[in-house]
Amino acid sequence: MKHYLQHDPWCIVETDFHREFNEITESVMSLGNGRHGGRGSFEEKFSGKTLQGNYVAGVYYPDKTRVGWWKNGYPEYFAKVLNAANWIGIDIDIEYESLDLNTCQVRDFRRVLNMQEGYLERQFVATLKSGKSLKVSAKRFCSIVDDEAGAIRYAITPLNFDARITITPYIDGAIRNRDANYDETFWDEVRKETAYGEAYIELRTRKTGFHVATGMCVSVEQDGAKIDYQSQPIKYEKYVANRISLDCRQGQETAIYKYAVNLSSLNYDPDTIIQKAHQSIQHITRKGFDKMLFEQKQAWADKWKMADIVIDGDVAAQQGIRFNIFQLNQTYTGEDERLNIGPKGFTGEKYGGSTYWDTEAYCLPFYLATADQKVARNLLIYRYKQLGKAIENAQKLGFRAGAALYPMVTMNGEECHNEWEITFEEIHRNGAIAYAIYNYVRYTGDEQYLANYGLEVLIAISRFWTQRVNWSEAKEQYVMLGVTGPNEYENNVNNNWYTNYLAAWTRRYTIEAVATVKALAPDKYADLIDRIHFREEKELATAGQIAEKMFLPQDEKRGVLLQQEGFLDKDLMPVSDIPKGQRPINQHWSWDRILRSCFIKQADVLQGLYFFEDEFDTETLKRNFDFYEPMTVHESSLSPCVHSIQASKLGMVDKAYEMYLRTARLDLDDYNNDTEDGCHITSMAGTWLAVVQGFGGMRVTEEGLSFRPYCPAGWQSLAFKIRYRGALLQITTTQQDVTVQNFSDAPITLSVLGQTITVAGESRQTVGI
Ligand code: BGC
Repeated sequence: MKHYLQHDPWCIVETDFHREFNEITESVMSLGNGRHGGRGSFEEKFSGKTLQGNYVAGVYYPDKTRVGWWKNGYPEYFAKVLNAANWIGIDIDIEYESLDLNTCQVRDFRRVLNMQEGYLERQFVATLKSGKSLKVSAKRFCSIVDDEAGAIRYAITPLNFDARITITPYIDGAIRNRDANYDETFWDEVRKETAYGEAYIELRTRKTGFHVATGMCVSVEQDGAKIDYQSQPIKYEKYVANRISLDCRQGQETAIYKYAVNLSSLNYDPDTIIQKAHQSIQHITRKGFDKMLFEQKQAWADKWKMADIVIDGDVAAQQGIRFNIFQLNQTYTGEDERLNIGPKGFTGEKYGGSTYWDTEAYCLPFYLATADQKVARNLLIYRYKQLGKAIENAQKLGFRAGAALYPMVTMNGEECHNEWEITFEEIHRNGAIAYAIYNYVRYTGDEQYLANYGLEVLIAISRFWTQRVNWSEAKEQYVMLGVTGPNEYENNVNNNWYTNYLAAWTRRYTIEAVATVKALAPDKYADLIDRIHFREEKELATAGQIAEKMFLPQDEKRGVLLQQEGFLDKDLMPVSDIPKGQRPINQHWSWDRILRSCFIKQADVLQGLYFFEDEFDTETLKRNFDFYEPMTVHESSLSPCVHSIQASKLGMVDKAYEMYLRTARLDLDDYNNDTEDGCHITSMAGTWLAVVQGFGGMRVTEEGLSFRPYCPAGWQSLAFKIRYRGALLQITTTQQDVTVQNFSDAPITLSVLGQTITVAGESRQTVGI
């Protein structure tokens, strides 16, 4: 763990320059707006540890798969989010010396990510080898109003000299992915242009043929007034710049404004993309930096109005939750149904920037409750549109008749993952996609979604389960062999309880959904069954039979559900028995040792008890929690949040708080020693769940909305907002009472601490604890 970032309720603050942690800070201080984003790197040259990463949503490269031994059914490629043109660069040279914080002395350094207003700011005084000192203040943001744009104000003040300073704002497309299997370059140059103060470059991805046009425009101020300047255009391969030389006096501030845009062929015709970039640049430069920043602050204020969580009495916890909410909003805005949420968002390259089950299992509930309904719906539509590919994917593995297996990792619907124990066996992801449909419909009441899209997906997933199970003569039940559950520290197991349960549940839910759609939209239903050749009677009967006769391993004596058959044969011991210095085990133990051990990477049985808690009593949860949690190493970022929610439910408040901090501050404190690769964006939604479902005890059931909130010790109050079926509510909990504020016009009836209350429109009600 690292504790060099300061605690602050609204900002992430680095004081003093921590060179050795620079890549961690770059991850944490990433900026994004759903359309493009990048790491919190420096504008000027930096020869130290850095991953200069800028990413454009939806633009990827099919990197050739790398495996030890090829297995039939492996995908040919692993899609990689692409490190795109560096638009932030501004080189500073003072009489043949470059400004480089790695080689000069640095004082009064401060790098601040302002989450309230959505920008990154940096100040420092640098003393070069020649003894010249200068002060630098930089501010930049990715605009959420003009979502293809970003802007930088970069100001330098000589402190002890007069000199001619050369300032070179540039766009550099000669970048490589750090995460590349064969060290290939992924971009070709199409064209580039420079004109007075402006420069453009158009790049095209190899193989996938995406075009990205990046443009910049620069203006300069001295002593607070705009000045005319001469600039020398510079062009190299995949690089354009404007070199500006200015006489700068001691004490005089020179400010460079760099406006930039990133347009992709996802949205523009490649033939005219450069012209469009030119128009976008004109639009934002006309607006100007101050207006853009003003709009940015307003837009973030609007987002916070809907989604803020206020913790009074614990700054570390407060900063943690705001950081998570901020990064989630920077990553995905729900404007575009073709986009999704990569586990690292725009903060790094690991995991290829692709879509995982994380979206459905963790992120969906966050967007359901904090954003417009269309945002969550677009996440579902993304998978709906990829149904054809999921069916093809299943066909490749030998399934038939419209069975769908959604990929473990994907960009465009095709499977990218290439480890057999995950690609072929970690099939529980299919169930998470079915569960997300259920979750969405339950939360929004939008049953039309089932008729228009959801049922078709459910049927295809159910068909997969039907073919994936087999009848065991010995058990006289259906079994599912050779799977990997969410706990990836077990592979190729038989009858993973979670997967079997999810499969049985999907079939039950599909039967229900058929009845709903038949009643709601008989014509649509008739069209659907015709189109997908759904033999209702036969398929539903089989589904029902399998759901009823699915083998679900459990241990009667202990009263626990078994993660898989044979789990109890392991040498069972708590994580506390792992010798000090051997954790995380995935960085210290052989895979063989991990597989044979009882240690659990992330919630598995408990993931099932989280999804389906209404189907189990609290004693069952308690027994399973007490059995599995002590063996859980939480080496997936997705793990602590589920445990925190369950610990809250079980009244294990210290455990809930410990797990909360672990998820909320995972990246801020670098718990897993891997933040330099990027932040754990998808598990950030889990942090939100740990607050709202854990401390807030929020549940949405068929009966409606309910809360069982409490304040962890030491917190004066906890307040969170949620949107629910047209209403905006704030729930505030102190150690004494719970107040529900209804910001909407219409009254709302809900349950607080088991008591049913109706809160009139525009009013509040308090319930004692
Ligand atoms: C977890 C998976 C998760 C993936 C991406 C892995 O470490 O085990 O459950 O989908 O990370 O977040």
